[in-house]
Amino acid sequence: MNTDEMIELCKRHTMYTWAAGGAVNPLPIDRAEGIFLYTPDGKQILDFNSQLMSVNIGHGNPKVIAAMKEALDKLIYVFPGTATEIRAKVSARLARLVPGDINTFFFTLGGAEANENAIRAAKLYTGRQKILARYRSYHGATNATMQLTGDPRRWANEPGMPGVVHVFDPSPYNYSFGESDEEKTARNLEYLEELIMYEGPQTIAAMFIESVTGTNGILPPPEGYLKGLRALLDQHGILLVCDEVMAGFGRTGKMFGFEHGGIVPDIVTMAKGLTSSYIPLGAMGVSDAIAQHFRENVFWGGLTYNSHAFSLATADAVLDVIEEDGLVENAANLQSVMRSEMDRLIEKHPSVKEGRCIGLFGMMDLQKNSRGEPLAPYNGSHPAMVALGKAFMEAGLFTFVRWSSFMCNPPLCINEEELRAGFAIIDQCLGVTDEAFEG
Ligand SMILES: Cc1ncc(COP(=O)(O)O)c(C=O)c1O
Repeated sequence: MNTDEMIELCKRHTMYTWAAGGAVNPLPIDRAEGIFLYTPDGKQILDFNSQLMSVNIGHGNPKVIAAMKEALDKLIYVFPGTATEIRAKVSARLARLVPGDINTFFFTLGGAEANENAIRAAKLYTGRQKILARYRSYHGATNATMQLTGDPRRWANEPGMPGVVHVFDPSPYNYSFGESDEEKTARNLEYLEELIMYEGPQTIAAMFIESVTGTNGILPPPEGYLKGLRALLDQHGILLVCDEVMAGFGRTGKMFGFEHGGIVPDIVTMAKGLTSSYIPLGAMGVSDAIAQHFRENVFWGGLTYNSHAFSLATADAVLDVIEEDGLVENAANLQSVMRSEMDRLIEKHPSVKEGRCIGLFGMMDLQKNSRGEPLAPYNGSHPAMVALGKAFMEAGLFTFVRWSSFMCNPPLCINEEELRAGFAIIDQCLGVTDEAFEG
């Protein structure tokens, strides 16, 4: 099949996500290895977003592929009511890896299903119905998780599950909460406390947060926020659910994002990096107290592919690579390189407003004038941003460009030289947005 035929059939017979299919211009990919993608005509493209911030160990890792082949010969699938060695092994391994008393796991196929089951667990455990979530968030595309999601992808899907209350996070540009970390944390938590009072704390089962917000800004929480939030929610018997689907498994320079805040949530959800997207798998991990509740009470949830043996074998091999190759440490070490490259671009390009990064989780924001107004409006576009995306692709760099920002999330196996090479490509392309800068 030639490339044009492939694209034409994909467009004719499949639906693309978050888009009108006719407007999609899919990137033709033949194979992928390490930090690179290859088009059918052999063009090499640096994957600067780990696809959907998910191929944490890089593409086509031979150790994982060998383990997957071995697993195929042993056991692919049995129903969720069974006990298997791989289910025992991976759940015990996660109990060791996830800090605190999160020792019991419910396996799903992806992140949205993990969050769906976290909603269910929180409601059943507390007997309460409402959920708090933040505007700057994405939690999945199923009915309930779409309602938790704060970003505009929710709008066309409303109304969905009732009982979700959205709140502000202490964002970097929301100066009404103050400028210093201390002020942002204190004022945001005061606001939240008042909001909880009006909603009725006895009606709220849980609050969902991305420990480090992903698509909606790469926003590490200000100092003290996670500890303060944990204490406030505890005071009212509201569970804290940390969505680690994107931030987990080393992306932020720690195994899980919430570790930066020195807290342990009641429930943690994960997917993406758990198998590095080599095969679908997600999980919800619960505290010992919640686990005990569901030993005594029915957990009213199930999935055909719960605890899928082949997915779990893949996760086990991926976790070996993350641990043996020191990928969490590599992400932590390269943070300063990403920071220095971002600072260099801010200094050099008038259209670059700001860059944020934690580990190898990064985003840069572009501005249209020296007052710092975003180049494109919220949920909108600008011809210069479209041109920037094209320039990245032509120069051999894949990443997400959305609204006024672009992502810097390479696989965690990248080295310093390769990371700097990625930023050198970005540097070359930013002339496009500098031309749109109005001064
Ligand atoms: C933070 C977060 N939560 C949940 C999800 C949903 O995961 P999935 O697409 O595997 O259902 C995503 C996906 O991007 C995510 O980034």
